[in-house]
Amino acid sequence: MYRLLVVSFLFLFFMSCKEKPKQIAMMDYKPAYHFSPDSNWMNDPNGLVYYNGEYHLFYQYNPFGNKWGHMSWAHAVSKDLMHWKGLPIALYEEKNTKDNDTTMIFSGSAVIDSHNTSGFGINGKGPMLAIYTSHVHNNLVPIAQHQSIAYSNDNGVTWTKYTGNPVLDIKSIEFRDPKVFWYTPQQKWVMVVSKPDEHETWFYQSKNLKDWSFMSKWGKSGDTARVWECPDLIELPVAGFNETKWVLFSSAGHPQKPYVGMQYFVGDFDGTKFTPDHEYKEPVYLDFGKDFYAAVSYNNAPNNRKIMVGWLNNWEYANDIPTGDKWRGAYAVPRELSLVKDEKGYRLIQKPVSEFDAARKEVFSLSNKKVDSTFDLTYKGDSYELELTIEPGKAKYAGVNILKSEGESTILKYDVGLNQLSLDRTHSGNVSFNPKFPSIEKSTVFLKNGLLHLRVLVDKSVVEVFANGGETTITDLVFPTKKEGQIQLFSEDGNATFKEVKVYAINN
Ligand code: FRU
Repeated sequence: MYRLLVVSFLFLFFMSCKEKPKQIAMMDYKPAYHFSPDSNWMNDPNGLVYYNGEYHLFYQYNPFGNKWGHMSWAHAVSKDLMHWKGLPIALYEEKNTKDNDTTMIFSGSAVIDSHNTSGFGINGKGPMLAIYTSHVHNNLVPIAQHQSIAYSNDNGVTWTKYTGNPVLDIKSIEFRDPKVFWYTPQQKWVMVVSKPDEHETWFYQSKNLKDWSFMSKWGKSGDTARVWECPDLIELPVAGFNETKWVLFSSAGHPQKPYVGMQYFVGDFDGTKFTPDHEYKEPVYLDFGKDFYAAVSYNNAPNNRKIMVGWLNNWEYANDIPTGDKWRGAYAVPRELSLVKDEKGYRLIQKPVSEFDAARKEVFSLSNKKVDSTFDLTYKGDSYELELTIEPGKAKYAGVNILKSEGESTILKYDVGLNQLSLDRTHSGNVSFNPKFPSIEKSTVFLKNGLLHLRVLVDKSVVEVFANGGETTITDLVFPTKKEGQIQLFSEDGNATFKEVKVYAINN
């Protein structure tokens, strides 16, 4: 017995001395203040509509897994665009009894039919109504894409699909993503919908949301490298001028081929057709990162605010991003849009909504710091906003390394000579899950009175950069494999002055 004890003791001692296998820290990529589903796959935002004090967010969702498939509309609501409450799935994929086909619920929009033009309301109140693409397929082989509607009389919680669906069918397998809004001057509904393979947006009208008639089409301009999807059309006042312009959006090609991205066109809309201000031989892109796509704006937002929500991903690698088994997909912080005009024409400005600003709490600040190579902030973290005002001065380059650990860093760098802001994620962490992922994003940004102003929203696996008050945005995903989260200011070939450095924690 004793010998047995000694042998057991020696055995246990020997085992405990052996080198233990190294624990690889499981990285948590779930954003803390960006919307993402608790489980499963999510892509485009759908049905963005404000009603009775709540922002509704429906979204492309796979109830059965963490990759694209079985597309349905999931649902969440928020009072402040920052804190979201999940609600039951609104619209499920349908199994069709005949032919074994299935109809997925593809992207679309939602309206509040306050005059009950559709007749689907009850007790003198109009319904909330969703207009979506019914994508019919057999074992994923597309059979049809047409537009269908569904209505809800309980604030979007439960839905009834219209028995007369589809409401708009042109017998095509490429016809999708209807955005519907009320056009006040002519008291009618307008639908903008994509004809993806023709790089066009088509315009329809209706008095009752059930009967739609064709008005016009526009496209084959700007970037036609990829199909056109998820159109949107909004009217915006031009800051400082007594005029409004219409802005048409399309999710399509990207400044760097062959990625997908978004472009926009400024022009006029007379209720029937869109007329751009110029030919758009050169595309105008909305965001210069790889991960801002399928963005659309809210209907009915208070005070005529134009608030846009975009999906943080790129179809080139969307299904492969290494967020773990549980969930896949996140949205950018909702952006408030405005329009400015200068000698070069009209330009869109994108800013995080003011509700985001209200959720910030300053946790670190530094001013007038001269940097002549590198300077590490004492603050570290993986979820915050960093706000910087940089005077590059005589330096050739100035910038900041974020989510930095031994051997890893995401580099935001300004090249003074080229007037170029770049975001380099080639050494940001795990970049090997898809050969298309490692990349450097670039955009022209001019200094203002010798200064560059940057707001950098960092949230575990999300980086959103707003340069010079939202004139330029760069949005990218990153997957650091270590947790140090250092922030390092730098300059190259000369001193740069960091006039103001602030870090904010985001209350979520
Ligand atoms: C855009 C898109 C839409 C389509 C949806 C399907 O990302 O391809 O055109 O409706 O995704 O999930």
